[in-house]
Amino acid sequence: MQVKKGDLIFRQGQKGDQAYLIENGQVEIFHTHKNDQESLLAVLGEGEIFGEMALIDSNIRSASTRALSDCRLLVIERDQLLERIESSDVVVQLMVRILMKRLRQQNQSKSGVAVENLTTDLSSAGAVEKLKLEHDLYEAYHKNEFRIFHQPVKDLHTGRIMGSEALIRWESPAKGLVSPGKFIDVLEHSSMIIPVGYWIFEECFRHHNAIMSAHPGLDFSISINVSGKQFLHLNFVDTIRDLAAKHKVNPENFKLEVTERIMMEGAVIVDIMNRCRGLGFQISLDDFGTGFSSLQYLSQMPINYLKIDRSFVMSLSSDPKAEAVVSSIIYLAKKLKLKVIAEGIETEKEAFLMKELGSDYGQGYLFARPLPFEKLLESIK
Ligand code: C2E
Ligand code: CMP
Ligand code: CA
Ligand code: CA
Repeated sequence: MQVKKGDLIFRQGQKGDQAYLIENGQVEIFHTHKNDQESLLAVLGEGEIFGEMALIDSNIRSASTRALSDCRLLVIERDQLLERIESSDVVVQLMVRILMKRLRQQNQSKSGVAVENLTTDLSSAGAVEKLKLEHDLYEAYHKNEFRIFHQPVKDLHTGRIMGSEALIRWESPAKGLVSPGKFIDVLEHSSMIIPVGYWIFEECFRHHNAIMSAHPGLDFSISINVSGKQFLHLNFVDTIRDLAAKHKVNPENFKLEVTERIMMEGAVIVDIMNRCRGLGFQISLDDFGTGFSSLQYLSQMPINYLKIDRSFVMSLSSDPKAEAVVSSIIYLAKKLKLKVIAEGIETEKEAFLMKELGSDYGQGYLFARPLPFEKLLESIK
Protein backbone atom coordinates (compact mmCIF):
# COMPACT_ATOMS: atom_id res chain seq x y z
CA MET A 1 0.00 0.00 0.00
CA GLN A 2 1.27 3.42 -0.97
CA VAL A 3 0.70 6.54 1.20
CA LYS A 4 1.60 10.13 0.39
CA LYS A 5 3.56 12.54 2.59
CA GLY A 6 1.18 14.10 5.11
CA ASP A 7 -1.51 11.36 4.84
CA LEU A 8 -3.14 10.32 8.09
CA ILE A 9 -2.96 6.52 8.21
CA PHE A 10 -5.23 6.07 11.21
CA ARG A 11 -6.37 8.07 14.18
CA GLN A 12 -6.04 7.30 17.90
CA GLY A 13 -9.18 5.87 19.48
CA GLN A 14 -10.25 4.03 16.31
CA LYS A 15 -10.65 0.27 16.13
CA GLY A 16 -7.90 -1.49 14.21
CA ASP A 17 -7.81 -4.55 11.95
CA GLN A 18 -4.42 -4.16 10.34
CA ALA A 19 -0.81 -3.52 11.27
CA TYR A 20 1.80 -2.16 8.86
CA LEU A 21 5.42 -2.87 8.07
CA ILE A 22 7.27 0.13 6.62
CA GLU A 23 8.97 -1.01 3.41
CA ASN A 24 10.31 2.48 2.79
CA GLY A 25 9.67 6.00 4.05
CA GLN A 26 8.99 7.38 7.54
CA VAL A 27 5.92 7.51 9.75
CA GLU A 28 5.26 9.63 12.83
CA ILE A 29 3.34 8.36 15.85
CA PHE A 30 1.60 11.05 17.86
CA HIS A 31 -1.10 11.81 20.42
CA THR A 32 -3.78 14.42 19.86
CA HIS A 33 -4.86 16.52 22.83
CA LYS A 34 -8.37 17.92 23.34
CA ASN A 35 -7.28 21.33 21.98
CA ASP A 36 -6.05 19.56 18.80
CA GLN A 37 -2.45 20.01 19.89
CA GLU A 38 -0.25 17.07 18.96
CA SER A 39 2.59 15.47 20.90
CA LEU A 40 5.10 13.30 19.10
CA LEU A 41 5.74 9.83 20.49
CA ALA A 42 8.07 8.38 17.87
CA VAL A 43 9.28 8.46 14.28
CA LEU A 44 9.48 5.05 12.66
CA GLY A 45 11.38 4.03 9.52
CA GLU A 46 12.13 1.19 7.17
CA GLY A 47 11.66 -2.30 8.62
CA GLU A 48 9.59 -1.15 11.62
CA ILE A 49 6.03 -2.23 12.38
CA PHE A 50 3.20 -0.06 13.73
CA GLY A 51 -0.48 -0.55 14.43
CA GLU A 52 0.18 -3.93 16.05
CA MET A 53 -0.93 -2.97 19.55
CA ALA A 54 -4.64 -2.64 18.87
CA LEU A 55 -4.61 -6.12 17.29
CA ILE A 56 -2.63 -7.80 20.03
CA ASP A 57 -4.55 -6.46 23.02
CA SER A 58 -7.91 -5.93 21.26
CA ASN A 59 -7.89 -2.34 22.41
CA ILE A 60 -8.42 0.89 20.45
CA ARG A 61 -5.54 2.59 18.57
CA SER A 62 -3.18 3.98 21.21
CA ALA A 63 -2.00 6.83 18.95
CA SER A 64 -2.42 8.39 15.53
CA THR A 65 -0.05 7.85 12.63
CA ARG A 66 0.89 10.05 9.68
CA ALA A 67 3.30 9.61 6.77
CA LEU A 68 6.31 11.94 7.07
CA SER A 69 7.31 11.12 3.49
CA ASP A 70 5.83 9.07 0.65
CA CYS A 71 5.80 5.53 2.04
CA ARG A 72 5.32 1.96 0.88
CA LEU A 73 3.63 -0.06 3.60
CA LEU A 74 3.12 -3.81 3.77
CA VAL A 75 -0.29 -4.55 5.29
CA ILE A 76 -0.36 -7.26 7.98
CA GLU A 77 -3.86 -8.64 8.58
CA ARG A 78 -5.08 -9.31 12.12
CA ASP A 79 -5.02 -13.13 11.66
CA GLN A 80 -1.52 -13.12 10.23
CA LEU A 81 -0.29 -11.45 13.38
CA LEU A 82 -2.47 -13.21 15.94
CA GLU A 83 -1.88 -16.73 14.57
CA ARG A 84 1.84 -16.21 15.08
CA ILE A 85 1.43 -14.92 18.60
CA GLU A 86 -1.04 -17.62 19.56
CA SER A 87 1.27 -20.36 18.32
CA SER A 88 4.19 -19.01 20.33
CA ASP A 89 5.28 -20.09 23.77
CA VAL A 90 2.82 -19.14 26.54
CA VAL A 91 5.53 -17.31 28.45
CA VAL A 92 6.37 -15.23 25.36
CA GLN A 93 2.65 -14.45 24.98
CA LEU A 94 2.44 -13.23 28.54
CA MET A 95 5.50 -11.05 28.04
CA VAL A 96 4.06 -9.48 24.90
CA ARG A 97 0.83 -8.61 26.75
CA ILE A 98 2.79 -7.11 29.64
CA LEU A 99 5.03 -5.03 27.36
CA MET A 100 1.98 -3.79 25.51
CA LYS A 101 0.34 -2.67 28.72
CA ARG A 102 3.53 -0.93 29.86
CA LEU A 103 3.85 0.96 26.58
CA ARG A 104 0.25 2.19 26.77
CA GLN A 105 0.82 3.36 30.34
CA GLN A 106 4.08 5.09 29.43
CA ASN A 107 2.52 6.87 26.46
CA GLN A 108 -0.30 8.01 28.67
CA SER A 109 1.94 9.46 31.35
CA LYS A 110 4.26 11.03 28.76
CA SER A 111 1.55 12.90 26.90
CA GLY A 112 -1.09 13.17 29.57
CA VAL A 113 -3.67 11.90 27.08
CA ALA A 114 -5.93 9.13 28.33
CA VAL A 115 -6.98 7.28 25.19
CA GLU A 116 -8.36 4.04 26.48
CA ASN A 117 -8.96 2.02 29.57
CA LEU A 118 -6.03 -0.19 30.42
CA THR A 119 -7.79 -3.35 31.46
CA THR A 120 -5.59 -5.61 29.40
CA ASP A 121 -6.11 -9.32 30.06
CA LEU A 122 -2.96 -10.43 31.79
CA SER A 123 -4.17 -13.89 32.82
CA SER A 124 -0.99 -15.82 33.30
CA ALA A 125 -2.27 -19.28 34.27
CA GLY A 126 -0.78 -21.12 31.25
CA ALA A 127 2.56 -19.38 31.58
CA VAL A 128 2.77 -20.02 35.32
CA GLU A 129 2.02 -23.71 34.83
CA LYS A 130 4.63 -24.08 32.13
CA LEU A 131 7.35 -22.20 33.99
CA LYS A 132 6.60 -24.26 37.08
CA LEU A 133 6.77 -27.56 35.20
CA GLU A 134 10.05 -26.51 33.56
CA HIS A 135 11.47 -25.59 36.92
CA ASP A 136 10.24 -28.84 38.50
CA LEU A 137 11.77 -30.88 35.66
CA TYR A 138 15.06 -29.06 36.08
CA GLU A 139 15.04 -29.97 39.77
CA ALA A 140 13.91 -33.52 39.00
CA TYR A 141 16.94 -33.99 36.78
CA HIS A 142 19.33 -32.65 39.40
CA LYS A 143 17.70 -34.72 42.14
CA ASN A 144 18.00 -37.82 39.97
CA GLU A 145 14.24 -38.46 39.81
CA PHE A 146 14.11 -39.62 36.19
CA ARG A 147 13.93 -43.37 35.61
CA ILE A 148 14.37 -45.47 32.52
CA PHE A 149 11.72 -48.16 32.20
CA HIS A 150 11.97 -50.91 29.60
CA GLN A 151 9.26 -52.48 27.50
CA PRO A 152 10.35 -55.90 26.21
CA VAL A 153 10.31 -56.50 22.45
CA LYS A 154 9.53 -60.08 21.40
CA ASP A 155 10.46 -62.10 18.37
CA LEU A 156 6.97 -63.05 17.14
CA HIS A 157 8.23 -66.31 15.64
CA THR A 158 10.33 -67.71 18.50
CA GLY A 159 8.70 -65.86 21.42
CA ARG A 160 12.15 -64.84 22.66
CA ILE A 161 12.76 -61.36 24.10
CA MET A 162 15.18 -59.73 21.66
CA GLY A 163 15.51 -56.43 23.45
CA SER A 164 13.61 -53.56 24.95
CA GLU A 165 12.53 -49.99 24.32
CA ALA A 166 13.77 -47.50 26.91
CA LEU A 167 10.94 -45.21 28.06
CA ILE A 168 11.53 -42.34 30.45
CA ARG A 169 9.47 -41.83 33.62
CA TRP A 170 9.60 -39.18 36.33
CA GLU A 171 9.40 -40.56 39.84
CA SER A 172 8.14 -37.43 41.53
CA PRO A 173 7.83 -37.49 45.34
CA ALA A 174 4.80 -35.18 45.00
CA LYS A 175 3.06 -36.49 41.88
CA GLY A 176 4.04 -40.15 41.81
CA LEU A 177 5.17 -41.83 38.59
CA VAL A 178 4.71 -39.30 35.78
CA SER A 179 4.54 -40.56 32.19
CA PRO A 180 6.49 -38.82 29.42
CA GLY A 181 3.29 -37.63 27.73
CA LYS A 182 3.08 -35.06 30.54
CA PHE A 183 6.60 -33.66 30.22
CA ILE A 184 8.57 -34.82 27.17
CA ASP A 185 7.35 -31.89 25.04
CA VAL A 186 8.47 -29.43 27.69
CA LEU A 187 11.91 -31.09 27.83
CA GLU A 188 12.14 -31.10 24.04
CA HIS A 189 11.20 -27.43 23.76
CA SER A 190 13.77 -26.39 26.32
CA SER A 191 17.49 -27.04 26.22
CA MET A 192 17.05 -29.60 29.01
CA ILE A 193 16.54 -32.41 26.49
CA ILE A 194 20.28 -32.25 25.76
CA PRO A 195 21.68 -33.18 29.20
CA VAL A 196 18.67 -35.41 29.94
CA GLY A 197 19.10 -37.05 26.52
CA TYR A 198 22.73 -37.94 27.22
CA TRP A 199 21.78 -39.15 30.68
CA ILE A 200 19.25 -41.50 28.98
CA PHE A 201 22.04 -42.87 26.78
CA GLU A 202 24.30 -43.46 29.78
CA GLU A 203 21.52 -45.10 31.78
CA CYS A 204 20.76 -47.43 28.86
CA PHE A 205 24.46 -48.28 28.54
CA ARG A 206 24.63 -49.07 32.28
CA HIS A 207 21.49 -51.22 32.01
CA HIS A 208 22.87 -53.10 29.03
CA ASN A 209 26.08 -53.83 30.91
CA ALA A 210 24.06 -55.13 33.86
CA ILE A 211 22.06 -57.43 31.56
CA MET A 212 25.28 -58.72 30.01
CA SER A 213 26.76 -59.41 33.46
CA ALA A 214 23.69 -61.43 34.39
CA HIS A 215 23.46 -63.18 30.99
CA PRO A 216 26.86 -63.23 29.32
CA GLY A 217 26.68 -63.48 25.54
CA LEU A 218 22.91 -62.77 25.36
CA ASP A 219 21.72 -61.12 22.15
CA PHE A 220 19.80 -58.11 23.53
CA SER A 221 19.38 -54.65 22.07
CA ILE A 222 17.98 -51.51 23.67
CA SER A 223 16.03 -48.94 21.65
CA ILE A 224 16.56 -45.31 22.68
CA ASN A 225 14.08 -42.61 21.64
CA VAL A 226 15.93 -39.64 20.19
CA SER A 227 14.25 -36.32 19.35
CA GLY A 228 15.19 -34.04 16.44
CA LYS A 229 16.71 -31.50 18.79
CA GLN A 230 19.01 -34.11 20.33
CA PHE A 231 20.04 -35.36 16.91
CA LEU A 232 20.91 -31.87 15.76
CA HIS A 233 22.91 -31.06 18.86
CA LEU A 234 26.43 -30.11 17.86
CA ASN A 235 28.73 -33.05 18.65
CA PHE A 236 25.83 -35.51 19.07
CA VAL A 237 27.67 -38.23 17.16
CA ASP A 238 31.01 -37.67 18.91
CA THR A 239 29.31 -37.51 22.30
CA ILE A 240 27.45 -40.81 21.93
CA ARG A 241 30.64 -42.40 20.58
CA ASP A 242 32.57 -41.18 23.65
CA LEU A 243 29.81 -42.28 26.04
CA ALA A 244 29.73 -45.75 24.45
CA ALA A 245 33.52 -45.95 24.89
CA LYS A 246 33.27 -44.72 28.50
CA HIS A 247 30.79 -47.49 29.35
CA LYS A 248 32.56 -50.04 27.13
CA VAL A 249 29.41 -50.97 25.21
CA ASN A 250 29.12 -52.05 21.60
CA PRO A 251 26.90 -49.54 19.73
CA GLU A 252 25.52 -52.40 17.63
CA ASN A 253 23.38 -53.38 20.62
CA PHE A 254 21.52 -50.05 20.55
CA LYS A 255 18.86 -48.71 18.23
CA LEU A 256 18.20 -45.02 17.86
CA GLU A 257 14.45 -44.57 17.54
CA VAL A 258 13.46 -41.57 15.47
CA THR A 259 10.15 -40.53 13.95
CA GLU A 260 9.59 -39.36 10.40
CA ARG A 261 9.10 -35.84 11.74
CA ILE A 262 12.87 -35.68 12.12
CA MET A 263 13.17 -35.42 8.33
CA MET A 264 11.59 -31.97 8.53
CA GLU A 265 14.98 -30.81 9.80
CA GLY A 266 16.37 -31.40 6.31
CA ALA A 267 19.02 -33.44 4.57
CA VAL A 268 21.57 -32.94 7.34
CA ILE A 269 19.65 -35.59 9.30
CA VAL A 270 20.61 -38.26 6.78
CA ASP A 271 24.26 -37.33 7.20
CA ILE A 272 24.01 -37.59 11.01
CA MET A 273 22.21 -40.94 10.69
CA ASN A 274 24.96 -42.24 8.42
CA ARG A 275 27.59 -41.23 10.95
CA CYS A 276 25.66 -42.99 13.74
CA ARG A 277 25.45 -46.07 11.55
CA GLY A 278 29.18 -45.77 10.95
CA LEU A 279 29.72 -46.13 14.72
CA GLY A 280 27.57 -49.27 14.72
CA PHE A 281 24.28 -47.85 16.08
CA GLN A 282 21.14 -49.22 14.43
CA ILE A 283 18.33 -46.91 13.38
CA SER A 284 14.67 -47.60 13.84
CA LEU A 285 11.86 -45.53 12.35
CA ASP A 286 9.15 -45.03 14.98
CA ASP A 287 5.39 -44.42 14.58
CA PHE A 288 5.57 -45.36 10.91
CA GLY A 289 2.46 -44.47 8.95
CA THR A 290 1.27 -41.63 11.19
CA GLY A 291 1.14 -38.12 9.86
CA PHE A 292 4.16 -37.41 7.87
CA SER A 293 4.86 -40.55 5.80
CA SER A 294 6.82 -40.10 2.67
CA LEU A 295 8.17 -43.02 0.70
CA GLN A 296 10.89 -40.76 -0.62
CA TYR A 297 12.26 -40.24 2.89
CA LEU A 298 11.99 -43.94 3.58
CA SER A 299 14.40 -44.74 0.78
CA GLN A 300 16.78 -41.92 1.73
CA MET A 301 17.14 -42.78 5.40
CA PRO A 302 19.76 -45.37 6.38
CA ILE A 303 17.37 -47.27 8.65
CA ASN A 304 17.38 -50.89 9.80
CA TYR A 305 14.00 -51.23 11.53
CA LEU A 306 10.53 -49.96 10.87
CA LYS A 307 7.99 -49.76 13.69
CA ILE A 308 4.38 -50.03 12.59
CA ASP A 309 2.29 -47.65 14.66
CA ARG A 310 -0.23 -48.96 17.16
CA SER A 311 -3.11 -47.31 15.28
CA PHE A 312 -2.68 -49.83 12.43
CA VAL A 313 -2.32 -52.77 14.80
CA MET A 314 -5.52 -51.67 16.57
CA SER A 315 -7.63 -51.42 13.46
CA LEU A 316 -6.45 -54.76 12.02
CA SER A 317 -9.24 -56.90 13.42
CA SER A 318 -12.04 -54.41 12.67
CA ASP A 319 -11.08 -52.78 9.38
CA PRO A 320 -10.36 -55.00 6.35
CA LYS A 321 -8.58 -52.11 4.64
CA ALA A 322 -6.09 -51.87 7.51
CA GLU A 323 -4.87 -55.37 6.63
CA ALA A 324 -4.13 -54.23 3.06
CA VAL A 325 -2.23 -51.21 4.35
CA VAL A 326 -0.22 -53.22 6.89
CA SER A 327 0.71 -55.93 4.40
CA SER A 328 1.82 -53.30 1.89
CA ILE A 329 3.99 -51.63 4.53
CA ILE A 330 5.55 -54.96 5.43
CA TYR A 331 6.08 -55.83 1.76
CA LEU A 332 7.81 -52.50 1.24
CA ALA A 333 9.93 -52.93 4.36
CA LYS A 334 11.08 -56.38 3.22
CA LYS A 335 12.00 -55.01 -0.22
CA LEU A 336 14.08 -52.34 1.54
CA LYS A 337 15.62 -55.09 3.73
CA LEU A 338 14.21 -53.64 6.92
CA LYS A 339 13.03 -55.62 9.93
CA VAL A 340 9.51 -54.86 11.11
CA ILE A 341 8.38 -54.25 14.70
CA ALA A 342 4.65 -54.01 15.49
CA GLU A 343 3.87 -51.57 18.29
CA GLY A 344 1.10 -51.66 20.88
CA ILE A 345 0.01 -55.29 20.60
CA GLU A 346 -2.67 -55.80 23.25
CA THR A 347 -4.44 -59.02 22.24
CA GLU A 348 -3.52 -62.54 21.11
CA LYS A 349 -5.47 -61.87 17.94
CA GLU A 350 -3.38 -58.79 17.10
CA ALA A 351 -0.17 -60.74 17.78
CA PHE A 352 -1.38 -63.58 15.54
CA LEU A 353 -2.43 -61.25 12.71
CA MET A 354 0.79 -59.24 12.77
CA LYS A 355 2.82 -62.43 12.72
CA GLU A 356 0.75 -63.79 9.80
CA LEU A 357 1.26 -60.57 7.87
CA GLY A 358 5.01 -60.94 8.27
CA SER A 359 6.00 -58.68 11.15
CA ASP A 360 9.24 -59.93 12.72
CA TYR A 361 8.90 -58.46 16.20
CA GLY A 362 6.15 -57.25 18.50
CA GLN A 363 5.86 -55.01 21.51
CA GLY A 364 2.80 -54.26 23.62
CA TYR A 365 0.82 -54.73 26.81
CA LEU A 366 0.01 -58.34 25.77
CA PHE A 367 3.65 -59.26 26.36
CA ALA A 368 4.60 -56.70 29.00
CA ARG A 369 4.07 -53.12 30.11
CA PRO A 370 7.12 -50.86 30.44
CA LEU A 371 8.96 -52.22 33.50
CA PRO A 372 11.43 -50.79 36.00
CA PHE A 373 14.89 -52.08 35.14
CA GLU A 374 15.02 -54.63 38.00
CA LYS A 375 11.74 -56.18 36.78
CA LEU A 376 13.06 -56.33 33.23
CA LEU A 377 16.16 -58.13 34.46
CA GLU A 378 13.98 -60.66 36.30
CA SER A 379 11.91 -61.28 33.17
CA ILE A 380 14.93 -62.19 31.02
CA LYS A 381 15.62 -65.89 31.16
P1 C2E B 1 6.62 -44.05 21.68
O1 C2E B 1 8.08 -43.95 21.38
O2 C2E B 1 5.71 -44.31 20.54
O3 C2E B 1 6.48 -45.17 22.79
C1 C2E B 1 5.44 -46.11 22.84
C2 C2E B 1 4.40 -45.71 23.85
O4 C2E B 1 3.31 -46.62 23.77
C3 C2E B 1 4.91 -45.79 25.29
O5 C2E B 1 4.26 -44.75 26.00
C4 C2E B 1 4.40 -47.15 25.74
O6 C2E B 1 4.25 -47.27 27.13
C5 C2E B 1 3.07 -47.22 25.03
N1 C2E B 1 2.64 -48.59 24.79
C6 C2E B 1 3.39 -49.70 24.66
N2 C2E B 1 2.63 -50.78 24.44
C7 C2E B 1 1.35 -50.36 24.44
C8 C2E B 1 0.09 -51.03 24.27
O7 C2E B 1 0.00 -52.23 24.06
N3 C2E B 1 -1.03 -50.25 24.30
C9 C2E B 1 -0.96 -48.91 24.53
N4 C2E B 1 -2.11 -48.21 24.59
N5 C2E B 1 0.21 -48.25 24.68
C10 C2E B 1 1.35 -48.97 24.65
P2 C2E B 1 5.06 -43.82 27.00
O8 C2E B 1 6.10 -44.57 27.74
O9 C2E B 1 4.04 -43.07 27.78
O10 C2E B 1 5.82 -42.82 26.02
C11 C2E B 1 5.14 -41.88 25.25
C12 C2E B 1 6.05 -41.22 24.28
O11 C2E B 1 7.01 -40.38 24.94
C13 C2E B 1 6.88 -42.17 23.47
O12 C2E B 1 6.11 -42.70 22.40
C14 C2E B 1 8.02 -41.28 23.01
O13 C2E B 1 7.62 -40.50 21.89
C15 C2E B 1 8.19 -40.36 24.19
N6 C2E B 1 9.32 -40.86 25.01
C16 C2E B 1 9.29 -41.80 25.97
N7 C2E B 1 10.52 -41.97 26.50
C17 C2E B 1 11.34 -41.12 25.83
C18 C2E B 1 12.75 -40.83 25.90
O14 C2E B 1 13.53 -41.42 26.68
N8 C2E B 1 13.25 -39.88 25.05
C19 C2E B 1 12.43 -39.22 24.15
N9 C2E B 1 13.00 -38.32 23.35
N10 C2E B 1 11.12 -39.49 24.06
C20 C2E B 1 10.57 -40.43 24.89
P1 CMP C 1 -1.80 0.77 17.78
O1 CMP C 1 -2.17 1.07 19.19
O2 CMP C 1 -2.54 -0.29 17.07
O3 CMP C 1 -1.85 2.10 16.94
C1 CMP C 1 -0.89 3.13 17.21
C2 CMP C 1 0.47 2.53 17.02
O4 CMP C 1 1.56 3.38 17.28
C3 CMP C 1 0.67 1.42 18.03
O5 CMP C 1 -0.22 0.37 17.71
C4 CMP C 1 2.14 1.17 17.90
O6 CMP C 1 2.42 0.44 16.73
C5 CMP C 1 2.66 2.60 17.70
N1 CMP C 1 3.13 3.19 18.97
C6 CMP C 1 2.39 3.53 20.03
N2 CMP C 1 3.20 4.08 20.99
C7 CMP C 1 4.46 4.08 20.52
C8 CMP C 1 5.72 4.52 21.05
N3 CMP C 1 5.83 5.08 22.26
N4 CMP C 1 6.82 4.32 20.27
C9 CMP C 1 6.71 3.78 19.04
N5 CMP C 1 5.55 3.36 18.49
C10 CMP C 1 4.43 3.52 19.22
CA1 CA D 1 9.53 -45.14 20.46
CA1 CA E 1 5.95 -45.41 18.71
